[in-house]
Amino acid sequence: MCRMTEPSTEKFYVVAAKSELEATGQLHVDLNGEQILLCRDGDEYHAIAYLCSHEDFALEGGTIHDGCITCPYHGAEFRLATGEVLAPPAYENIRTYSVRTDEDTISVGLVE
Ligand code: FES
Repeated sequence: MCRMTEPSTEKFYVVAAKSELEATGQLHVDLNGEQILLCRDGDEYHAIAYLCSHEDFALEGGTIHDGCITCPYHGAEFRLATGEVLAPPAYENIRTYSVRTDEDTISVGLVE
């Protein structure tokens, strides 16, 4: 017998004002227990896992450049849009989340 599964739905939550990312370009967000790092790269906003996949230290404070973030601890590099690992010592990708923006706010999507 074939069972139909419900398609997963993504629900968006407003998590920050754009102005909160003006100073450092980064903001730690706890969204329903998900630890997320919001990042601004020019006019683009990304939501990535807060912790690095190397040794689970915070990516907050890492250098953002050319669509990537470099971990402040041992220098692993990840693509902000996809979480793809680009440089060791990390070898696992990090999670990313969907982002929507309007004129003033940033929303992050969670699969319900
Ligand atoms: S904790 Fe990020 S590179 Fe080691």
